[in-house]
Amino acid sequence: MKTVSVRASRPYEVKIEAGLLARAGAEIAALYAPPRSVLIVTDDTVNALYADALTASLEKAGFGASRFVFAHGECSKHIGTLGEIWNTLAEHKLTRSDLIVALGGGVTGDMAGFAAATFLRGIAYIQIPTTLLAMVDSSVGGKTAIDLSVGKNLVGAFYQPSLVLCDTDLLATLSPEIYADGCAEVIKYGYINDPTLLGMLETSFADAPEAVIARCIADKRDLVEADEHDNGARQLLNLGHTAGHAIEACSNFEISHGSAVAIGMLLMARAAVKKGLCTPDVPAHMEAMLRAYHLPTDCPFGAADLAAVALSDKKRKGATLSLVVPQKLGQSVLYPIAAAEVEEFFAAGLN
Ligand code: GLY
Repeated sequence: MKTVSVRASRPYEVKIEAGLLARAGAEIAALYAPPRSVLIVTDDTVNALYADALTASLEKAGFGASRFVFAHGECSKHIGTLGEIWNTLAEHKLTRSDLIVALGGGVTGDMAGFAAATFLRGIAYIQIPTTLLAMVDSSVGGKTAIDLSVGKNLVGAFYQPSLVLCDTDLLATLSPEIYADGCAEVIKYGYINDPTLLGMLETSFADAPEAVIARCIADKRDLVEADEHDNGARQLLNLGHTAGHAIEACSNFEISHGSAVAIGMLLMARAAVKKGLCTPDVPAHMEAMLRAYHLPTDCPFGAADLAAVALSDKKRKGATLSLVVPQKLGQSVLYPIAAAEVEEFFAAGLN
């Protein structure tokens, strides 16, 4: 088993190993002695695959387990579902000594985490991510949120989990598309600041998933510890995301998050080379890497459309936007840019 310790406002461990789900009850009991009540929050897809095994493991360890199941997908990540989770917690009479377990991908983790942050002004929660993307990104770092009709993640809180359990066996049931989505986030860490990870990814990720996932989590941990509330270094995690979010939105979310981030990263690398900010070897290296992991590289939208969405993003600060640009293989930097220059910058990455 690999373990990554996170020393954030709440310290916790991220454990990575095949078969962890069956031992989840024992792992949680080591931190929170039973008897206690646990509400498992999960979507209908993951419920059918893994919630019975988790319930059995929790009950074997002496916990009382109940379940809240919602319809899968981003379209459930709203105040209505959150209200149902709050009501379920209250109906089951959970107290501040009890726990929420988020079993699922990013939508589940974000929403269950926000329910934990707010119910009784905060109860503990455990993340058991079931997608690669959630393992290497959203389950670690304490960003919790729901969407509003005008935009994603507009209401939320920084609220760290008490434990994260990544069972690599769960990756076996991901569709190739969802798996590739997670690979985009894995690859991203290499280009942010981890040339060793880029080397590991030259052979196949599938040969050493525990080592690669642990390395990505350690990379994220370093940025979260340096800047938990996302005012500086943590923003490096947005490599490919400013253009990527715009690509997702322009496609009416037909293009998945990971695919959009892949396209967005390459766009930024090409633009950075054109602007003299990056060594010329990066775009070809990145394009080959993305293709090797079955990710798209061509942007179907123009710079004006992308800039219009990017400039409406919540992360914009006044008249500037903080982009993340690659400088050389395995190194990126924050690059503040005037709003008026964003379209031209994107255009440089498209030509
Ligand atoms: N997903 C980016 C972050 O946690 O900051």
